[in-house]
Formats: sequence, structure tokens, C-alpha cells
Amino acid sequence: MKNLVGIILAAGQGTRMYSGLPKVLHNVAGQPMLDHVLEAVAALEPDRIYVVTGFMAEKVREHVGDRAICVHQKRRLGTAHAVRQVVPHLKEFRGDVLITVGDAPLIRPETLLELVKRRRAHHVAATVLTTELENPTGYGRIVRNRDGTVRKIVEEKDTNVYEAAIREINTGIYVFDCQRLLEALERVRNDNAQREYYLTDTVEILGKLGFEVEAMVAEDPTETLGVNSRADLARAENLLRRRIAMSVMEAGVTVIDPATTYIDKQVRIGKDTIIHPFTMITGKVEIGEECIIGPHVHIADSKVGAGSHLQFCYVQEAEIGSGVSVGPYALVRPGCKIANNTRIGTFVEVTRSKIGEGCDILHLSYIGDARIGNRVSLGTGTVTINFDGNTKHQTIIGDDVFLGSNTRLIAPVEVASGVRFPHNAELTGKVRSHEQQPQARKAKSQTQRKRPKTRPK
Ligand code: UD1
Ligand code: CA
Repeated sequence: MKNLVGIILAAGQGTRMYSGLPKVLHNVAGQPMLDHVLEAVAALEPDRIYVVTGFMAEKVREHVGDRAICVHQKRRLGTAHAVRQVVPHLKEFRGDVLITVGDAPLIRPETLLELVKRRRAHHVAATVLTTELENPTGYGRIVRNRDGTVRKIVEEKDTNVYEAAIREINTGIYVFDCQRLLEALERVRNDNAQREYYLTDTVEILGKLGFEVEAMVAEDPTETLGVNSRADLARAENLLRRRIAMSVMEAGVTVIDPATTYIDKQVRIGKDTIIHPFTMITGKVEIGEECIIGPHVHIADSKVGAGSHLQFCYVQEAEIGSGVSVGPYALVRPGCKIANNTRIGTFVEVTRSKIGEGCDILHLSYIGDARIGNRVSLGTGTVTINFDGNTKHQTIIGDDVFLGSNTRLIAPVEVASGVRFPHNAELTGKVRSHEQQPQARKAKSQTQRKRPKTRPK
């Protein structure tokens, strides 16, 4: 949208969060609140976005990066004072200024767009986004004129009994005609209960200057929820999570129980995938079509191909192909690439490994630092011994290899394609065939001799 700038107020510490982290950097649905707001404002494609920083400004600035211009507010003297920090950048600007707060992460771009369009269509000095709340405690109250325009906004601490009873509240989101905003800002004083320069005072000032201010009532009050405490944070998380689950379902995904399913905002899921209860899909995740995910699965920052089946497992920073099954009770750690139609079974841990197509690693295995070819079958209890106490070593296995139960791969080890060992082998170095590994046979016969003594029949 042309002739539009966005301002996001984010200088506050968030005293009631009792946190060392700036409030706007607290996560909701897997990303900082500020990111949600930034994304909503950016969706309107304004000419520029300003973020007003204060508390831990460096950290906020670093996080914002090149997504917006950060303007520092040295002392926190109120929301009007915060906007004043941007004024030097706006002197020449003719157009709309959209002001939002960094602690209202549920705002949707559609609502912001509607707000801007409304002001432009009605040629008013400003349009305030309001909403009606059962319990308006803590918010500024909207006082209307007889003709429905907004006369003023009264902060809770400055209300009289009549004003306190008003249920229409200020969401802290507004669109101003830029030059009108600048005129009004000059006139804001701090003669109020909190000794702050209130941005909300601009409304009454504009009225006195002969300009009209309108309200646009947000139909969904949850969209404008302001987060001031950890309890609010949990509320926002819950609402956003429900919204994400709804949009996932609208895209053709079955979510059996949205109440116990946690899907972050950056997750993409293909249609006809079914998500079973107690499942978390966090960070940047892509899941293909027709998968079955859950129950009790956590997938973080990973890719899963179509038709895969994951249950009772944790998959982290991994790439999983199509038609793969993982679990129950499996751990796939960072740096794994598991190709199509491979099965990772029960009590199997895989880390920093590439596993080819059509492999079976079905029971009680540890696979670390391995490169495994296609159609490889590793029997129960097969483990890579990748760490000698100092260094991690690689295990390389070719195609069509069969290693039976209880095989120990002492890395560095390289098993050639087609090699088969029925069970109990201890393999190290270059393994070209069964015969070339006498020490393996020795190890095998030793364990076989010991077994009957230790194992009860
Ligand atoms: C503000 C509004 C109130 C509205 C509510 C909606 C004012 C005076 N009041 O109240 O009418 O109902 O939001 O949530 O505007 N900030 C700065 N610099 C400052 C002060 C605040 O950047 O000097 C930022 C904060 O970081 C925050 C936002 O502005 O993101 C709102 O400030 P906050 O103190 O939370 O205002 P409220 O009391 O919630
Ligand atoms: Ca607030």
C-alpha cells in the first residue's frame, strides 16, 4: 500500500512479565510477539516500518534486523513521547501512519488493512480500532460524541465512574493522517494520573482543532488482546494456537484434537495428513500430504515427505522422505537425512546420519555419524560405536547390506555393498565380505561361548 508508514511501539520493559527479556521478544506460537506484529504490518506493504525501542534496545534492534527502522526512545515518557521519536522522519510525509503496539500479537493484517481503508474512505483525521469487552479493566475507554465520532479516550487511571463503566476500549491500534498527527502530538501534555504523554490524548486534541476521529470496532475482541503478564501470554498462546489449528484444518488437514495439538505459525502441512493428539510441531516444519503424525510426536525444524507415519517420537532438525515410518519410541536428532520408504522402529536413536531408501532399522539401535546406502537391514540391537572417547568416527555402509542382531560397528568402519552377517558381528575397518573379517567371527564365537552362562534358560 502506497503512502503508508507503520509504527510499532516496543520500548516497554513489560514490568509485569518479571523478565530479563524485553516483553516483545517473548514467544507466542513459536516466535516473538514482535514478529507477529511486524508480519501483520509488513503484509500491508507500507513504504516504511518504524519500531520504537527502549528497554534492551540493542537486543530488539538486532532481532528486528532489516525488517524495520529502529528508533530509540531514551526515556519512557509515554506512548505520545514514543511516537514523537519518529516525528523527524515524518516531517515531509503525506499519507497514513498506522500505529500498533508490539505486545498485541494476535492482530490480523486484514483488520489493519480495513482500518486504513476506512480512514481513507471517510476522510477523517484518525480511525481508532476499538472493541467491546465484558471486562474493560486496564484499557483506555472510548468516549463517543452524539454523532458516533470519538470525542476522547480516557485512560483507566483518569476515568470518572461513568467513564469507567464504558465497555468500548482502545486497542492501542490507530491510523492517523500524518500531518494531523504531527499537529496533535505537539499539543500533548502530561497532566494526568501517570505523568505520561499519552498518545490517546491526540483524539481529543484533534476534535478541538475541528477534525473528526472515528472508531472501527473489531468484531473479534481476541484479536486485540494486549499481553502484559505471563497469564496474558498463555492466553495469547492458546488463542493463536487455536487460530493456527483452524487454518491448518481449512487447508485440508485433520487435527483430531486441536486442544492438545501445538502447531507453530511457520509450519506447513499437506492435505489429508492426520494429526493425532498430544503432538507438537514447532519451528520451521514442512510436512507432506497424507501423513499420519502422532499421537505423542514432537517434530521441530524438520521436513517430512508425503505418506510418512510418525508416532511417539521426537524428530529434530532432520529431513525425512516419503513413505517413511518412525517410532514408536524413536529419536531422530539433528543432521539426519532419511530417504523414502525407510523404517526407523522402536527404541532407535539416529544422529548426524544419512540413511538410504527402503532401509529397516527396527529395534533397539543407535546410529551415529553414519552413511547408509539403500535397502540396508540392520537387526535388533545393531549399534555404531562412533566415539572412542576423543573423536567421533564415521560408519559407511553400502547398498543391500544385511547385518543381523547385535552387530557392533566400530567406527571408522566401511561395509561394502551386498555384505551379509547373520548376527553378533563386530565390524571395523574395511569390510568387503564375511571372510575378510576374521576378527568379526572371533568376536562372534566368543560371545556365543559366554552366552549360555549368563543367560537364564
Ligand atoms: C495503552 C493505551 C490504552 C490502550 C492499551 C491497549 C495509552 C496512553 N494507552 O495502554 O488506551 O487501551 O494500550 O493495549 O497509549 N510504549 C513505548 N514507550 C513509552 C510507553 C509505552 O514504546 O514511553 C509502548 C509499550 O512498549 C507498549 C505500548 O507502547 O508496547 C503500550 O504501552 P503500555 O504501557 O503497555 O500502555 P497501556 O497502559 O497498555
Ligand atoms: Ca499494554
